[in-house]
Amino acid sequence: VAIFGGRSNPALARKIAESYGTTLGEVTIRDFADGEIYVRFEESIRGADLFIIQSTHPSADNWMELLLMIDAAKRASAARVTAVMPYFGYARQERKDQPRVSIAAKLTANMLTTAGVDRILTMELHAPQIQGFFDVPVDHLYGSGVLIDYLKQFDLDNFVVVAPDVGALKMARAYAQKLGVNLALIDKRRPRQNEARVMNIIGDVEGKNVVIIDDIVDTAGTLTRAARALREKGALEIMAACTHGLLSGPAYDRIEASPMERLIITDTIPLKRPSESIEVVSVAGL
Ligand code: R5P
Repeated sequence: VAIFGGRSNPALARKIAESYGTTLGEVTIRDFADGEIYVRFEESIRGADLFIIQSTHPSADNWMELLLMIDAAKRASAARVTAVMPYFGYARQERKDQPRVSIAAKLTANMLTTAGVDRILTMELHAPQIQGFFDVPVDHLYGSGVLIDYLKQFDLDNFVVVAPDVGALKMARAYAQKLGVNLALIDKRRPRQNEARVMNIIGDVEGKNVVIIDDIVDTAGTLTRAARALREKGALEIMAACTHGLLSGPAYDRIEASPMERLIITDTIPLKRPSESIEVVSVAGL
């Protein structure tokens, strides 16, 4: 077995290797002056059961780097190549929901297969049906595997799990069941075009501590709007737990200005900067 990391998340790659009592294999990855990427494995991997750890965020270069690593590994006669993708970028474009758009998740799945991947190990795909885009095995892990244990440190007596939209309901229900607490749902709707969106909360949050559950926090609009609606309805301590912290654009400012006391995320993507409002739980053990 040989474990290598791309450049997207070196800290997590090191932790994963450590959890197997080993170190990462040596690979040179660098950028040419024009931005193209060079990859070379610096040790023999002939016949190896090879694991390449790479989150594809930010997307374009990290995707290309992963594909080049898989291609180099297959050409160097690795016996089996597993792409370990803690965060699978482009998973949110997984169907043709408007005319003339791409299905990027299918395209990226095809690219992995063309590069020669034998197996994918990934986490909390935005749409689990993406597994069906592959003809190789996909191991699909869940952030709840570490986030539920972390949440158990809080006093759960007066706790409610909240789904910030209908899309997050199934996941939030699983958290509520595993934590043994009640569930609430934010139903966002625009009564008429050009009218402000109304946030109806289904379930009782008044006088309760709440944890909002989502798979991804990107610009943090979803979470912080939900947090404000929950505070208006009388929620006490408000926190959120999400697997993937993309934290793009205004995310940090929104989180720090929101009524949310803490955001718990995993380390599938490295933090862009530390923040007192953000706590990180490692998925390396999983
Ligand atoms: C959307 O379908 C996802 O589950 C997240 O709710 C979304 O990606 C969060 O995006 P943002 O943080 O930009 O509101």
